[in-house]
Amino acid sequence: MPNRYLIANWKMNLPPEGMDAFLGAMEDADVAVAPPYVYLKDVVTSAPKNVLVGAQNCADQKSGAFTGEVSADMLRDCGARFVIVGHSERRNVYGESDALIARKLALAIDAGLMPVLCIGENQAQRDGGYATAFCSDQLRAAAVPQLANASEVVIAYEPVWAIGTGRNATGEMVAEIAAAIRDALGRFWPADLARRAPVLYGGSVTPDNVDDLLARGEIDGFLVGGASLDSKKFLALAGAMKTRFATQ
Ligand code: 13P
Repeated sequence: MPNRYLIANWKMNLPPEGMDAFLGAMEDADVAVAPPYVYLKDVVTSAPKNVLVGAQNCADQKSGAFTGEVSADMLRDCGARFVIVGHSERRNVYGESDALIARKLALAIDAGLMPVLCIGENQAQRDGGYATAFCSDQLRAAAVPQLANASEVVIAYEPVWAIGTGRNATGEMVAEIAAAIRDALGRFWPADLARRAPVLYGGSVTPDNVDDLLARGEIDGFLVGGASLDSKKFLALAGAMKTRFATQ
């Protein structure tokens, strides 16, 4: 399992130590980084070869009069290799619907980018016992015809209540949802893609909880916010993954 499923989502931040210092520290780590749009080309240029570079978002339209938007084709032309779609901050802060996210997913595939599709329940849905059903519904809503042409789609399970809160899901919760995700993929997505889709976890991942999250062997990596702004913490996550996957 490559460590490139350790993805830094910098959101609307840059590492305080500086972008070049952060990227320089990744020389021997198999990781991925999603900077804000305007830094994409700089990161593509200065990142070590082993670092996969991608974007945090893309437009739900191919081109045209959509002020402020950036298309999946443009991201590919800037050197992006993957794009995050459906992050809960896009869904909840900017009101993105399942239908809009499905269009982004389709356009990312058409552009030849590897989509990283985020799903995850909020606190009320978890408290109500609907977490697995909600995640399955989000996957069903994303079952676009273009999936048949995708070589790889990554699923990132990011429960809304765990993002940026310091309250991570337990290894046990993640294992339960990962099983539900694989079941839903098997029902709604093309069989071959469903079998191969890596499942990541995101939500307050730190060097202190990474071993517990990896212990059950149900997930293939992480999408990381806060801890991805500090090269030492991010390298510690990469090290934990390397150890875990080397011993499988
Ligand atoms: P935190 O790691 O800061 O909780 O953010 C997770 C996330 O949203 C990554 O996409």
